[in-house]
Amino acid sequence: MKKLIIANWKAHPETARKAHSLARAAEKTASLRGNAEVVIAPPFPFLESVGSLLSRARLGAQDISWTGGDYTGMVAPQHLKSLGVRYVIVGHSERRIHAGETDAMIQKKIFAVLQYDMKAVFCVGEYVRRGGDMPAIVGDQIKTALAGLKPQALKQIIVAYEPVWAISTAAESAGPTTPDSAFRARLYIEKTLVSLFGARATRDARVIYGGSVTPDTVAGFLTDGAMDGVLVGGASLDEKAFGKIVRSAAEIVRC
Ligand code: PGA
Repeated sequence: MKKLIIANWKAHPETARKAHSLARAAEKTASLRGNAEVVIAPPFPFLESVGSLLSRARLGAQDISWTGGDYTGMVAPQHLKSLGVRYVIVGHSERRIHAGETDAMIQKKIFAVLQYDMKAVFCVGEYVRRGGDMPAIVGDQIKTALAGLKPQALKQIIVAYEPVWAISTAAESAGPTTPDSAFRARLYIEKTLVSLFGARATRDARVIYGGSVTPDTVAGFLTDGAMDGVLVGGASLDEKAFGKIVRSAAEIVRC
């Protein structure tokens, strides 16, 4: 399967013009390299215009509301679907921390994504670097947010392991985790999915890594870390860095 490289632009850049220039560069990289699947998740106001510039790269959204109708300010699954969104990031730690999202809300959002036949990039991860609490926190996040899903739904789930302390903007950040610990997290995530959905269905779920991914670190996560892809924040706003990340991923697949 192709490596999945997802650009999470967060609330950047400031203007549509800059967003379009970034999107054109990402599209060029995605077109040159067929072995990596590139997804661009711009802020909501740029979704439609960025989407119109992409053909090889896929369109992603950074969040979703679980329903349409009388909910001021929310963005419904129907809206995203009608704009050609294929992937939706759900439960990012910045939404858990700054918007008070709970695992129960995240569960509803995941259902909405699946119902509209999009793929959910479901973010999990522990908050502090030391303490060994990854299994307890990640286990709870998965058990609550994926409760009630049918095993075959795992085809539409990408679990993004993002240790919160490793995200480039985190206060205590000292850079990414190691490929080894990402690998251990992957095993733990798989074990949890197997206990909920069985081994066969778990093979369909993809597990990716996010947190300070750069051109220098991406290969380690995709090889030693055995990750199916990466979720890239800061480095996705730098055309050259993002291009290098995509090329690096594409080369690994060819080996
Ligand atoms: P980062 O962000 O690559 O800047 O650490 C990743 C993310 O928050 O998804």
